[in-house]
Amino acid sequence: MDIKALLSRMTLEEKVGQLVQSNAGQFIRNDLEITGPDGETVPAEELNRVVGSVLTFEDAAQAKALQDQHMAADRNRIPLLLMLDVIHGLRTTYPIPLAMGCSFDDALTAECAEIARREASACGVHVTFNPMVDTARDARWGRILETYSEEPLLNCRMGAAIVRTTQGQNLADPENVACCVKHYAAYGAPEGGRDYNTVELSERLLREAYLPAYKACLDAGARLIMPSFNALNGIPSVANPWLMNRVLRGEWGFDGVVISDYNAVMELVPHGVAESLRDAVRKAMEAGCDIDMVSNAYYRHLADLVREGTVPEAVLDAAVLRVLQLKNDLGLFENPYHGASEEREREVYLCPAHREVARRAAEESAVLLKNEGILPLSRELKRIALIGPFAEETRLNGFWSRPGAERYTVTLPEGIRALLPEAELILERGCGAELGDLDRSGLDRAAAAAARADAVILTLGEPENDSGEGRSRAELTLPGVQQELAERVIAANPRTAVVLFNGRPLVLTALEKIAPALLEMWYPGTEAGNALARLLWGEANPCGKLSAGLPRAVGQLPMPYNRMNTGRPKPGPDDQAVPFTSCYLDTPNLPLYSFGYGLSYTRFVYESLTLDRDRMSKEDTLRVTVTLRNDGDRAGKEVVQLYLRDLAASVVRPVQQLIDYQKVMLEPGERKEVHFEVTEKQLRFWNFDCEYVSEPGTFELSCGWADHLLETKRFTLD
Ligand code: NOJ
Repeated sequence: MDIKALLSRMTLEEKVGQLVQSNAGQFIRNDLEITGPDGETVPAEELNRVVGSVLTFEDAAQAKALQDQHMAADRNRIPLLLMLDVIHGLRTTYPIPLAMGCSFDDALTAECAEIARREASACGVHVTFNPMVDTARDARWGRILETYSEEPLLNCRMGAAIVRTTQGQNLADPENVACCVKHYAAYGAPEGGRDYNTVELSERLLREAYLPAYKACLDAGARLIMPSFNALNGIPSVANPWLMNRVLRGEWGFDGVVISDYNAVMELVPHGVAESLRDAVRKAMEAGCDIDMVSNAYYRHLADLVREGTVPEAVLDAAVLRVLQLKNDLGLFENPYHGASEEREREVYLCPAHREVARRAAEESAVLLKNEGILPLSRELKRIALIGPFAEETRLNGFWSRPGAERYTVTLPEGIRALLPEAELILERGCGAELGDLDRSGLDRAAAAAARADAVILTLGEPENDSGEGRSRAELTLPGVQQELAERVIAANPRTAVVLFNGRPLVLTALEKIAPALLEMWYPGTEAGNALARLLWGEANPCGKLSAGLPRAVGQLPMPYNRMNTGRPKPGPDDQAVPFTSCYLDTPNLPLYSFGYGLSYTRFVYESLTLDRDRMSKEDTLRVTVTLRNDGDRAGKEVVQLYLRDLAASVVRPVQQLIDYQKVMLEPGERKEVHFEVTEKQLRFWNFDCEYVSEPGTFELSCGWADHLLETKRFTLD
């Protein structure tokens, strides 16, 4: 399609329409969820005629109906762009992103993106609002579940892998889907951990910890980007000229589509940076926001602003061309349905191959936090008590799972029965997991059930809807009376493994004191029960490592593992306060479980870390070799993590910083050498003048995990 010729035939109102996005529910009946307040109402027929894109629809049949209905009404026959949040699977749900981060497995993450792409394209999705790569260091923020890690490196690598897999080589291929990376920028650092709240960050920290992941996704080819809801250093992102014009379009040269977040253009008014909706439109257009998601502010005011000359028509045309270009690249002018096909939906949704990937992902993202000889359970134990609010729960899919996802979840009893048909299961809920649910009436029965059993699996955590958008918490302990339930059950039967389902790092300090075994499952998705049963009985060996540390107390937050040193670092054992040093009087400094931590059923011994040189020039490549051995009697996977410390620089540097990782598989008794290459680029940082540089001096390299570096070697950069 000659999109420039098309543009020249379009009226002003038609051009504006290409920049308007509506909720499908605004002009077609369906059962979809709405994630925010809706904009001003516009008659459905009118919307249908002019809008350029639609978000949130249900299936291929609806995608086709929407497209047909629109094409029949649009005199230019410009197809709609259909967008959906496919964050961790469409029908086959795989673990939440924070859990996928714990897999430290970019290839597995890409496999998951592949099944999501196949299902999403069959459903008729043209653009997915994925990946979300906001660095988050504060578990109060409920959207921490949507990110891969507190560490930008994981967000960069996993985000880029998702983009490459989802978009493929050629967007016109009906099985490929365009990616919208989000939320630009620093949405994960709201004051107080409260969603939508303001973010204040120095430019240096922003560039170092927050911007790289968005950039990595754009470098991988992401075709769209979504500015975040929050104000960043005083200006909401969607109207932030520094963020949008200077960095995104200027420094990074991004020429793809910018789409606002839900209602965000209108929200410039309550933010207090626009006097009116009209003013909000002007500001968003000046910052280069192409599509207005659902607020209908562009629909109301953009044409007038162009007519009066406030917004130059050339600016409007450039935005419209970006949208038309995307439609053209997706091949929509030739094939407006793209991949939408009821037949393919039947073929791919929840097919065995997709479930197999989801199960493996759930196994590899589980983190074994503690194990005092309880796990794996022996098949000799016949009578198993499944206790706790999640014992039979189906809502184990996480905030962004599609409506109805729970219908397909394999529950824990189903998973156990599939693995151990002869096991006798005693089921007891014990208590609820809802915030404020203080009903203790089930505790006695739960304790009695525990006492009768050979072993107990105690399921605890947060209800699925307590993390996600608009779900911030100020307390991070287990909701309700779950801690009491744990005390009663463990006292009745010490052979208890606690299994956790939650969307954020919780404060488990009290639970850790009493639980003999702790397995963090996050929200594992469709294959929850199968994966968990295999982990509990040792058919699968846990290998996940924490992608975000677990605090001891809320007061430690935000709590980056790659914190800066202070002039008065705390000396000696972490559990003793030392006044006039940087410490808390009532809590150790370190997390309960640090970033990168996770146990296995086998034991890995790190034998040595060697460098092939102790000096390097800027052109050199330093080769690092880590030798490790599987000292146990089971095969297992280990994530070998490489940390850097710059001992002295012109600005304060982190006490530890992950610069690379590899996941390796070792048979019992096997020894392996793992090789890393370090170049000068990995030693760079943003200096005081915001230049990205390395500085000569001494560095340390270590392996292990955060706060527990096992071996350290020094080298000098000339
Ligand atoms: C609001 C959320 O912030 C964003 O992540 C999502 O993509 C949009 N709603 C669309 O559902």
